[in-house]
Amino acid sequence: MLVVDCCIRGEDSATRRYYQAYLKTVPQTETELVELEKLGLEPLNRETLARRDQLCARRAFDHGMFRLARQFRDADEILIAAPFWDLSFPSLLKVYLEHVSVSGLTFGYTQDGRCVGHCKAGKLLYFSTCGGFAGENLGFAYVKALAAMLGIERSEAYVLEGLDLDPARREAVLEAGIAALNTRESSTGAG
Ligand SMILES: Cc1cc2nc3c(=O)[nH]c(=O)nc-3n(C[C@H](O)[C@H](O)[C@H](O)COP(=O)(O)O)c2cc1C
Repeated sequence: MLVVDCCIRGEDSATRRYYQAYLKTVPQTETELVELEKLGLEPLNRETLARRDQLCARRAFDHGMFRLARQFRDADEILIAAPFWDLSFPSLLKVYLEHVSVSGLTFGYTQDGRCVGHCKAGKLLYFSTCGGFAGENLGFAYVKALAAMLGIERSEAYVLEGLDLDPARREAVLEAGIAALNTRESSTGAG
């Protein structure tokens, strides 16, 4: 399982504690961890996009620029963890997704113009925690749509809400969500 950690607050992150507790419930899983904060990723700019387009045109997908995309394509299962920020997720996750969405590598087009995903994962898990109540989680909705484009048919959300409503209860809400991991498949409900 490829674990993509976008938990900006590191060891203080509730989202990190939540997904790490989940991983303990599936101990046999071999994980490969990518901590986005440690990668120094930059958004694509005019220069790097032109370089990427040249490499794609030559199908030079063994280039280092595509390392994250190859890793994403080859994973059997993917877990993405990111806190709920500004109705979705931190921009660092968008930058990562920009780097893994590569035409010709993680997705492509048929001759009649249909988009086809090339990623091998059968399932993507999305972990998040929210200060309030998000309603429809636009972060998950976006990740699920992009995953489908990349060929990953199933996406499941594990979202805990209401963590910041009463600071004195934040820990209790998180612990209740962690305790519930053993008894439910996935959740978009309140903690
Ligand atoms: C920059 C920033 C933006 C946030 N935006 C929202 C928001 O739009 N809605 C909300 O309910 N909570 C929002 N929150 C609160 C977080 O979702 C909440 O505290 C969450 O549990 C943080 O997860 P973490 O401990 O993994 O960092 C925001 C927090 C930060 C730091």
